[in-house]
Amino acid sequence: MKFFVDTAEVSEIRSLAEAGLVDGVTTNPSLIAKSGRRMAEVIEEICAITPGPVSAEVTATEFEDMLAEGRHLRAIASNVAVKVPLTEAGLRACRVLSGEGTLVNVTLCFTPAQALLAAKAGAAFVSPFVGRLDDIATDGMRLIADVVAIFRNYPQLKTEVLVASIRHPIHLVEAAKLGAGVATLPPAVIRQLLKHPLTDRGLEAFLADWRKTGQSIL
Ligand code: G3P
Repeated sequence: MKFFVDTAEVSEIRSLAEAGLVDGVTTNPSLIAKSGRRMAEVIEEICAITPGPVSAEVTATEFEDMLAEGRHLRAIASNVAVKVPLTEAGLRACRVLSGEGTLVNVTLCFTPAQALLAAKAGAAFVSPFVGRLDDIATDGMRLIADVVAIFRNYPQLKTEVLVASIRHPIHLVEAAKLGAGVATLPPAVIRQLLKHPLTDRGLEAFLADWRKTGQSIL
């Protein structure tokens, strides 16, 4: 499973990349706004940190404008994946941009039917949002299960399921059990994956016993 980091905070991405935990990055207009930085500048910096796909989202809503923005974004760096919303214009833009060799991430996916349309439009990734469905008492992981099952029936579809809107480690574990290819995780959730109190306590006990021996390895 590929781990993408869902943030535009360069310091977070750099820190996690140094730990070998970054296979790609996803941003969106809200994350760019939160960074307080110019979009082109921060995307260029992120693309230099990781060779993996870096999603940069168009903000236009009409087909021709989406194409223009997508072509502008992909020119920032060779590993830019252009993100488009799952709308009719977005799917049209996805078809053209992917036909031009651009990686396209179709975002804001909330049904299996939407995911199938994104795949038929040639998307490299489709981003079903788990957390936002959970937030309205709807089973977000059911969406992932349905999309993965549908895609498995059509091996000719090359679109990867990029599980998004992840709120906690169980979303990640359940997505991995279902066989989703990619998950995009807030930095805090990635760090939560590491933690267990028994690991911490076990290490403390090992080191306490080791100190009693008076030995050192080096
Ligand atoms: O960036 C795409 C997605 O992961 C954002 O989801 O619900 O955390 O805003 P959310």
